[in-house]
Amino acid sequence: MRLTIKQTKALDILENSKHNTLLFGGGAGGGKSALGCYWILKNCFKYPGTRWLIGRSKLHTLKSTTLNTLFEIMKMQGITSNDYYFNRTSGFMTFHSTGSQIVLKDLFYYPSDPNFDKLGSMEITGAFVDEASECTQKAIMILSSRIRFQLDLHNLVPKVLLTCNPTKNWLYNEFYKPWKDGNILNHRYFLQSLVTDNPHISKHYIGQLQRLDNVSRQRLLEGMWEYDDTLGKLFEYDKINDIFSNSFVPKGDLHISVDVARYGNDRSVVCLWNGFRCESILQYTKTSITELATYVLEIANKNKVGRSNIIVDEDGVGGGLVDVLRCKGFVNNSRPIGKENYANLKAQCYYMFADKVNNGEIYVNAVMEDRDALAQELEIVQVRKLDSEQKLNVMEKSKIKDLIGRSPDIADALMMRMYFELAKSKVVYFG
Ligand SMILES: Nc1ncnc2c1ncn2[C@@H]1O[C@H](COP(=O)(O)OP(=O)(O)O)[C@@H](O)[C@H]1O
Ligand SMILES: [Mg+2]
Repeated sequence: MRLTIKQTKALDILENSKHNTLLFGGGAGGGKSALGCYWILKNCFKYPGTRWLIGRSKLHTLKSTTLNTLFEIMKMQGITSNDYYFNRTSGFMTFHSTGSQIVLKDLFYYPSDPNFDKLGSMEITGAFVDEASECTQKAIMILSSRIRFQLDLHNLVPKVLLTCNPTKNWLYNEFYKPWKDGNILNHRYFLQSLVTDNPHISKHYIGQLQRLDNVSRQRLLEGMWEYDDTLGKLFEYDKINDIFSNSFVPKGDLHISVDVARYGNDRSVVCLWNGFRCESILQYTKTSITELATYVLEIANKNKVGRSNIIVDEDGVGGGLVDVLRCKGFVNNSRPIGKENYANLKAQCYYMFADKVNNGEIYVNAVMEDRDALAQELEIVQVRKLDSEQKLNVMEKSKIKDLIGRSPDIADALMMRMYFELAKSKVVYFG
């Protein structure tokens, strides 16, 4: 296999002793996955007894995409099935000649495993995460902390290779933007490869990319990170990031908003508000309604929040909590307050919340992993196609769940705070 110029440059970064993390960005078809597989394979043969991780958000996607690229590269390099043992179920591949291993891993964020205990005590020599934009920053940080296996023996520095197509999330903030502004951290490197940098790809593929919709074409063909993503989005990307540093937002009346877990695995989220400052976000998993009621009351008493200033999502088991607390109940699908151009109360509150976020009127005090989760949730809340009655609506919970693997619990809890504004003023609110 002959590497492309961009792949050669990427390999240089992966083999120097200066950088720890390389983000090899795209374009689609730029040869990112191929380079990742090549690097991992090369390491397995060059450094006997080492262990290299190939990860992706979802293991089954990894097995149906990146793994195929790995086999493709092996074929090009003349590595045959006699040279290794592969257990597809466990995701371990061991090479006979060197004893080195490749381990395939699922890096998806499951709320039931917030600290990525699934990575266990496993030590690795290095890692390649394909389509890293599907992973949270925390997953990558924890993964990076596991890189120490046999490093000293082979005189290696810890290396993580991340690949992605242009996306507005933490990779944009941590790699692309600082790289563009000339202040990327010393141990990080950003390099982009487009389909036009890959002479091995079929001409038809470029044609396909040219026929994509505007935003997809900008991202996948032109590798443009500053693509226009406002269409259908309620929240502006930069403004979402701002809520965590808008400490100037004034204090005001105290409120508590609560999103109650529906099923065993979900979390209940309790937000304490001072004006439009969400001062704390508390999360409870596997908590009974009675226990949750006790926690909410403790917070309310400690901060002197009256019952009429507490709102609880009343759908499902939340109704029980409303009964115990004798507070306000929030019914997602109930009629909007005042003007009726929203599909329901939830959509109305989300539009109002988005307006406040986009105007820099919201502050949220949150730890890094909650910021990650919340930013991801808000980023995904989109305007749903107008229904036949032309009412404004937001994306269904089930669809969001498909996309990010969990309910947008924190976003939902924050959005409910708007109820008090709507109820107070009863003014007509046009999103
Ligand atoms: N150096 C190379 N030599 C031969 N084929 C390559 C090389 N690099 C990439 N390819 C092929 O080009 C295609 C696109 O590469 P891929 O790594 O999947 O791109 P990306 O991950 O950036 O979308 C694949 O079929 C891959 O096998
Ligand atoms: Mg790829």
